[in-house]
Amino acid sequence: LIDLLIAHAAELVTCRTGPRGAIGPGLAQLEVIADGAVAIDRGRIVEVGPTRQLARRHHARRVLQVRGRLVSPGLVDPHSHLIFAGTRHEEWEDRVLGRAIPPGRLTGIRYTVARTRRASAAVLRAQALADLDTMLAHGTTTVEVKSGYGLDRDTELRLLRVAASLRHPVCTVLTYLGAHVVPTEYLDRRDAYVDLVIDTMPEARRHAEYCDLCCDPNCFTTDECRRMAKAALALGYRLRVHADQNGPVGAAELAAELGASSADHLDHVSPAGMRAMARRGTVGVLVPGVTHHLMEMTPRPDGRRLLPAQSPFWPRLVRRMIAAGIRLALAADYNPGSSPTQSMQAVMQLAARLYRLGYAETWHMSTINAAWALDRGEDRGSLEAGKRADVVVWTVPEHGMVINRFGVNLVDIVMKDGRVVVERGVPV
Ligand code: NIG
Ligand code: FE
Repeated sequence: LIDLLIAHAAELVTCRTGPRGAIGPGLAQLEVIADGAVAIDRGRIVEVGPTRQLARRHHARRVLQVRGRLVSPGLVDPHSHLIFAGTRHEEWEDRVLGRAIPPGRLTGIRYTVARTRRASAAVLRAQALADLDTMLAHGTTTVEVKSGYGLDRDTELRLLRVAASLRHPVCTVLTYLGAHVVPTEYLDRRDAYVDLVIDTMPEARRHAEYCDLCCDPNCFTTDECRRMAKAALALGYRLRVHADQNGPVGAAELAAELGASSADHLDHVSPAGMRAMARRGTVGVLVPGVTHHLMEMTPRPDGRRLLPAQSPFWPRLVRRMIAAGIRLALAADYNPGSSPTQSMQAVMQLAARLYRLGYAETWHMSTINAAWALDRGEDRGSLEAGKRADVVVWTVPEHGMVINRFGVNLVDIVMKDGRVVVERGVPV
């Protein structure tokens, strides 16, 4: 006798792959079971297969009929800046209209840092919980959460404490991002800020599993990042890197050299960086929300606007990464500046269109490969016996429709560890 049988899915996409995720041509080979079923017991998947077979083999306390609907793994979002205060929608309108931004006005990450430092833990916590509700309602069951809008010891630790205190069905994976950008008050003494990031690491480690470093012309140099990475590794952190977003600085090469779990953004990754990542198994995390929201408006290091011709041609770039053999994942990169969306569903739609990805590729990149980006591919990211029963039932019957349609939520039911946590697209 098992707890639950999900039966008669119009389509069941398992996102099951080889032992390390979907790579190269494997990205395009998606396992789809017609009239599918999932057998679940004590929060774990027991078996996946055609309903005809599973109904014969399992007696379930409860049967959930999902006729006419698609069933998939819960979406995994391996990059978010969940904990922040304020909004930057006004700055975005200035950029969209090409208005000059008055010199001296705080913009970008530093604006959000100023707002976040003033916010109470209670306010940050309430907003984060509301955002997690939105993520869950759109199908995300695991999300990575970074600090990084404190940029001083006390605020960074406060953000991590807030993140660690969140009790919510969405599973959170915590990352210390003191190395987000050099804060205003340290602009003329960068080394002192790098020291501060390192000094905060031991205490931040109490909450954070990962340490993230922004290695980018706008943020930290490869030498600065290498120094911080060595300190983090000595404390038992695993690494993630914001890599080569605004220019080719060798961040992907560094991420591979250091054994980072992922290198994210990668708009200006070099051919050598691609080869190094493929060799080392570093997951490449792409953030199409940023591509869509900023495109040619990404500020250059010198503050001027990036000309369209200097933007990468993403479809070709992403094809090269796939051909190189990099494990690729997608993330929402939820933050108030470059990607203000909580929805991985929206991100899947943008990825397919802006990077010219197929449906199978897009599904693997949002589930199993995203789980590998968080070193959790053995435990979640696909519908397979032994894994957590993190399952989404969609309002549409076919997996391509989730990506082809846009702008509305197509989630019906979400299950986390075998428990129904969203019904009719609303958290229960
Ligand atoms: O897109 N280097 C960091 N870039 C962040 C931006 C966050 C923000 O604009 O607030 C990112 O991941
Ligand atoms: Fe980010």
